[in-house]
Amino acid sequence: MSKKDLDWSSIGFNYHVADYRYVSNFKDGKWDDGAITTDSKIVLSEDAGVLHYAQEVFEGLKAYETEDGHIVCFRPDLNASRMEDSAKRLEMPAFPAERFIKAVDEVVKANEDWVPPFGSGATLYIRPVMFATGNVIGVKPADEYQFRIFVTPVGPYFKGGAKPIVVKVSDFDRAAPHGTGNIKAGLNYAMSLHAIVTAHEEGFAENVYLDAQSRTYIEETGGANILFVDADGNLVVPKSFTNSILPSITRRSIVQVAKDYLGLAVDERPVRLDEVHNFKEMGLCGTAAVISPVGKINDHGKEICFESGMDEMGPVIKKLYDTLTGIQMGEIEAPEGWVHIIK
Ligand code: PLP
Ligand code: COI
Repeated sequence: MSKKDLDWSSIGFNYHVADYRYVSNFKDGKWDDGAITTDSKIVLSEDAGVLHYAQEVFEGLKAYETEDGHIVCFRPDLNASRMEDSAKRLEMPAFPAERFIKAVDEVVKANEDWVPPFGSGATLYIRPVMFATGNVIGVKPADEYQFRIFVTPVGPYFKGGAKPIVVKVSDFDRAAPHGTGNIKAGLNYAMSLHAIVTAHEEGFAENVYLDAQSRTYIEETGGANILFVDADGNLVVPKSFTNSILPSITRRSIVQVAKDYLGLAVDERPVRLDEVHNFKEMGLCGTAAVISPVGKINDHGKEICFESGMDEMGPVIKKLYDTLTGIQMGEIEAPEGWVHIIK
């Protein structure tokens, strides 16, 4: 085995067609045995449920090469259970959690050459996806599905890596109160596409979405949860009272790291847009985003500037970033069960 000849430090967050993927199909009420395949293409009937009523859910996690040459991934059990929750919400059959983890292992091992080298700054992004292949024409769930996992090496999600970004308060909503914001379904991202194109055209890296009910509270961005650091150096994490924030695995891990490794107090509560100017630091967190510092929020032309500024990560966000990535890369001892050894 030898690594692919890629310039790992400059690959960006893009899709590369790796050699292998894992596929299992659901038919006649059960999942088949599943297998590794080389075929990256999918042939669908024109009345496949995914094409009409958007029955699709997905996940995102990463595999890392550690300094001593192992390949590991981070808390895949939580991706497996979140995907079950997402599937149930869209009336899709869940792919069993233990099979999910086994499939991640198989597909990463098969694509070992695509796992970026330790220290390169890149990682292997793993994208499990499940969609309705069965026929529908009336509005109802399909009865056939495909579960697939493909991988692609990725660099930083935001251009410039760890440089602070500027985000804007969006006039669009990402998720309805008590809708599907708390699951990882493609339909939520379709909702956000016009908003992100608009934000990019205006020079912003991401959108901050407010709660759709009162447009008063901060929810999350299009692809990451939000963290704030208050004037006392403690962590404040927005909580939704309409259950419309995705339960980020990175955010849940950071909350534990903040408490147990850094001794910070953590306040998980609804956060009003009009109190954000009191905070010292802001970050976006997620599998793709890791922890990306935010220097400013633009609220309809009014700038909310964080003390940490536009040059580097603030000190608390930096500590959280270093500790979390140290745990993920095997350099800092992880809590029991967080680091899953693939090889
Ligand atoms: N919020 C949204 C809307 C996302 O797309 C993601 C990415 O997965 C996250 C939050 C972060 O979740 P996680 O940390 O589980 O990757
Ligand atoms: C992830 O972080 O895994 C996501 O799915 C976010 C997406 C915007 C790439």
